[in-house]
Amino acid sequence: MGSSESQPAQEPEPEPKTADPEPKPKAYPVPYFTSIPGGLQPSQVISVSGTVLPNAKRFHINLLAGSDIAFHLNPRLSEKTVVRNSKIKGSWGSEEKSLPVSMPFIPGHSFKVEIICEAQCYRVALDGQHLLAYTHRLKHLPAINALEVAGDIQLTDVQV
Ligand code: GAL
Repeated sequence: MGSSESQPAQEPEPEPKTADPEPKPKAYPVPYFTSIPGGLQPSQVISVSGTVLPNAKRFHINLLAGSDIAFHLNPRLSEKTVVRNSKIKGSWGSEEKSLPVSMPFIPGHSFKVEIICEAQCYRVALDGQHLLAYTHRLKHLPAINALEVAGDIQLTDVQV
């Protein structure tokens, strides 16, 4: 059997990939809004990662039910506190400020906040460590169907 003269048809070379081998993190605009499809339910986790800007005064992560803020998580770098509150029918309630550690959010540092929605409360973990709990004031969880992140941070990841 003689070898054939004709060359097998050559597949065209794939186009060289122009994307970086390490994908750039998606840029999240701030303020950032996204919906939580179906609203919250127990055991759901909302995760927000970012970097506190060097001259940050404050930022917040809000869980929203229409015009109500079910949960306002508000690190205030200027006061070295992490304020938690709810705004219901236009009025802020009483602030919760206690922490088991000194101010854990630091200008220039990255962070990952996980808000774990449980039946009675939100539990907030920072970089994988439990930080605080906040008993639900707006108790109808399915109505809490949007997330807002705003203030003096660069936002690098959001998972709802
Ligand atoms: C207010 C502030 C709001 C919110 C609220 C929480 O003083 O203007 O943005 O942080 O406190 O209690």
